[in-house]
Amino acid sequence: MDKLDPALIARVAARYAAEGRFARGFVAGKLRRDPAGPAILRAAGVEGFGEVVDLGCGRGQLAVALLLAGAASAVTGIETAPVQAAQAARAGAGLALRVIRRDLAAEPVVPAADTVLIVDVLYQLPTAAQAALLVAAAAAARRRVLIRALDPGAGARAVLTIGWERLSRRLSPHAGAVVNPRPPAEAAAVLRAAGFAVTVAPCRDGTPFANVLITACRPGVPSPPAASECCPGAGPGTRCSPPAR
Ligand SMILES: C[S@@+](CC[C@H](N)C(=O)[O-])C[C@H]1O[C@@H](n2cnc3c(N)ncnc32)[C@H](O)[C@@H]1O
Repeated sequence: MDKLDPALIARVAARYAAEGRFARGFVAGKLRRDPAGPAILRAAGVEGFGEVVDLGCGRGQLAVALLLAGAASAVTGIETAPVQAAQAARAGAGLALRVIRRDLAAEPVVPAADTVLIVDVLYQLPTAAQAALLVAAAAAARRRVLIRALDPGAGARAVLTIGWERLSRRLSPHAGAVVNPRPPAEAAAVLRAAGFAVTVAPCRDGTPFANVLITACRPGVPSPPAASECCPGAGPGTRCSPPAR
């Protein structure tokens, strides 16, 4: 499994030093163990993501990591939960990170950016809100949309992941209102209709979960540069083909 550079993880975690042991440990653990971080950083390639919008940014550790690694020139994080949004804003102090508090289900407004990230968020929204947010994300993204999503069709992994998510709603009131994963093909269809070339690949390496990474890029934009479970078949310098008609 790909790992993030431990020095980068330490630099990100240090920015949460004042947020208490739980937040600091959560951020470091997430960056250490979740395959989404390395897959997304790799997808930035040598040219980087440019301006990024991170929808449902949570505590902002991915945004901070992208900025500290030089993989994004600026990030706008959008988050509904007040505590997480405030922690993200504090962690990004002095970096090119701004955080907007917004309920994306009620107000699916996405600022224009080179790259739009939606990481582990869609399944927390009602179906109609997911569709509206995807359309807005596709319209806002000049180059790429990356979505980490829970695949409800992934057999036993899906049963386990959905069960875990439902349990965590009992344990934590902040875990989100619903557990509503939709087939990744639905998001892929919205992005293809908006002119993106789209790949869907497992993004669960080292975990028992049912996650996938949906990578959508405008024709001519380099696809993720390194082959891995998250980006099979993609090699350095390869380019997305135009979307299938
Ligand atoms: C599982 S967390 C993922 C956080 C972050 N993307 C990450 O990778 O660490 C889901 C996040 O989506 C946020 N979220 C859920 N529903 C939202 C909504 N309607 N509007 C904005 N953010 C929302 C939650 O508050 C939470 O921070």
